[in-house]
Amino acid sequence: MIRISPLAALATCLAACASGAPDPAARIYRDPQAPLESRVDALLSSMTLEEKVEQMHGASLAPSAGLSDTPANARLGIPGFRMVDGMRGVGRATGNATTFPVGAARGATFDRDLERRVGEAIGAEARARGANVLLAPTMNLLRHPRWGRAQETYGEDSFHVGAMGAAFVEGAQAHVIASAKHFALNSIENTRFTVDVQADERTLREVYLPHFRRVVAAGVGSVMSAYNRVNGAYCGENRHLLSDILKGDWAFDGFVESDWVFGTHDTVASALAGLDVEMPAAHYYGAPLVQAVRAGTVPLADVDAAVRRVLRAKIRSGIFDGKAPLDPAVVVESAAHAEVAREAERKAVVLLKNDGPLLPLSRLATTRIAVVGALADTPNTGDTGSSATQSSHVVTPLAGIEQAAGPVGVLAVPTDAPADADLAAIAACDAAVVVVGLTAADEGEDLVGAGDRASLELSAAHQQLVAAVASRNPNTVVVVEGSGAVIVEGFADAVRGLLLAWYPGQEGGLAIADILFGDANPSGRLPVTFPRSEGQLPPFVNDQPAVTYGFLHGYRYVDAGGLDPRFPFGFGLSYTSFAFSNLSLDRATAQKDGTVHVSVDVANTGSVAGDEVVQVYVSWPASAVMRPVRELKGFERVSLGVGETRTVGIDLQVQDLAYWDAGAGAFVVEPTTYEVAVGGSSRDLPLRASFSVPAG
Ligand code: BGC
Repeated sequence: MIRISPLAALATCLAACASGAPDPAARIYRDPQAPLESRVDALLSSMTLEEKVEQMHGASLAPSAGLSDTPANARLGIPGFRMVDGMRGVGRATGNATTFPVGAARGATFDRDLERRVGEAIGAEARARGANVLLAPTMNLLRHPRWGRAQETYGEDSFHVGAMGAAFVEGAQAHVIASAKHFALNSIENTRFTVDVQADERTLREVYLPHFRRVVAAGVGSVMSAYNRVNGAYCGENRHLLSDILKGDWAFDGFVESDWVFGTHDTVASALAGLDVEMPAAHYYGAPLVQAVRAGTVPLADVDAAVRRVLRAKIRSGIFDGKAPLDPAVVVESAAHAEVAREAERKAVVLLKNDGPLLPLSRLATTRIAVVGALADTPNTGDTGSSATQSSHVVTPLAGIEQAAGPVGVLAVPTDAPADADLAAIAACDAAVVVVGLTAADEGEDLVGAGDRASLELSAAHQQLVAAVASRNPNTVVVVEGSGAVIVEGFADAVRGLLLAWYPGQEGGLAIADILFGDANPSGRLPVTFPRSEGQLPPFVNDQPAVTYGFLHGYRYVDAGGLDPRFPFGFGLSYTSFAFSNLSLDRATAQKDGTVHVSVDVANTGSVAGDEVVQVYVSWPASAVMRPVRELKGFERVSLGVGETRTVGIDLQVQDLAYWDAGAGAFVVEPTTYEVAVGGSSRDLPLRASFSVPAG
């Protein structure tokens, strides 16, 4: 054994320190076997103030090879972050990528396993493009469907958004660090940089934050603060959101980064509130932050705490120890990812109306169909904002239908203004499929896209197109593309079939054809309420400096108001039928921190295989506090063959049924009766059971 005298060790150390090299004892940080926090401690203790602050901001306003970088530290071997957007596929700045159906579409699948695979695929493509942080998922609740970025998020319900977001994060983080955004209450585009969203503490805790808490529990490595203010303070300097709730109550140990450019406003306020990283460049952090520490207005301990989070994320995710790159030629736009994109759209399409039933179209009994509308032959994958992607191919509905039609003739009329001769030809077909809806010209991210929707109505041109076709062909099916809810009053009554196809991704046309011809059975369920008019929704205010978000929106709003929406939350038809029976709970009384196991039988009572989404809602009929009429607290997608019955088990966490007691400043599980209702939508709940939580 070689023995080194203490004096020699000290001399080596002094020489190393004088040369700027780290203390050899600190080299523990290089040891992948050493405990995570010891490695972080060792690194931190080796860093100068300038080096620490350099870890707390982006490298440049201009992306490098499409990625937003943070500086690396060559002396200590600390890699930088390399960030890229990716809610529907890796952002187009890096080149081509697989384009998946948008988040809203994937919300309609109610399929956690699928969303995990989508996250895994996008994460892999991001990693193959050199990124190590994926700026997704978008986790803001859809308060109102006119929100310009409605397409990015999973829907209007917190439980559902949390479950889907957690699945995405679990998948994506096999490859990269996911960044849940935008924390929080960011659901208006036109005033997004400045609007002050007011919400009382109960509304925050019960409605607008639990889905973020859910992804934190799933281990998300990063959270992006939103542009807007919440209760007076910009989210990037909102101590209540960032420090009290996210890092305090939820024990989030990842890092918080600002939204881009306009997400940071003040050095000291942000640093004290808990913003760890300013993106995409050093404006308020960098030299001003170094000065603030020297001047004593920002304690060094706050900088250390932020850098600790950054270093922890880099070590925990594997990027510090050099994560193996993936080969873009193998991973990006792979056939396997295209298949996931097609499966996602197939499961996302929501059949809203099917009189007759007209659908599916039989290849044997149909000679010729017309495919009508400019959107029938337009790649329409979503907005032009940060979530925009670029794929080497996009299958339009017309192309998908032509490919799938087999012996059925296809009359293509890809225009919104068919000539009289076209209309006569359409009238002579067995059926007409009209593709209408929204595009990037109608909705999207503000500044780089169209912003909020002006109205929930379809354009006059599209309404006229549907009317013109429907008046000539009694077998008209309308396929609606877009972010979600549109007002279908009027035009939907004139047609026999109505499908919501969302922004369907690069394989969308194939999946739409799968549904139309019955090669797949529609199984999407609405993650957003379709109102009959905007009057059935809370007001959407996108031109005022401040707005108030109340306790109720979406189905909770229509349920409380006794309103009759056009299509309720959770709704979607199938080519088969399902029956629910034998609802049972495993206990009549439950502990406050306990679990109630819900069991129910679901049978496929029709003549084709299909998927049902079992939905579990909870009500509080005797609550002493104001409660929503019902709230989704569990769901499970189940595949059933013809005549098959399966028992589906869903666990309810009693803690998820608590209300926020503002006086106590805590969640309280009320000693009361809890009614459990199970069925296929928020308005079709044939089975009920109840349990109680005893006092004490
Ligand atoms: C968007 C974020 C996005 C970021 C980087 C911002 O304008 O709000 O969602 O991740 O840009 O592209």
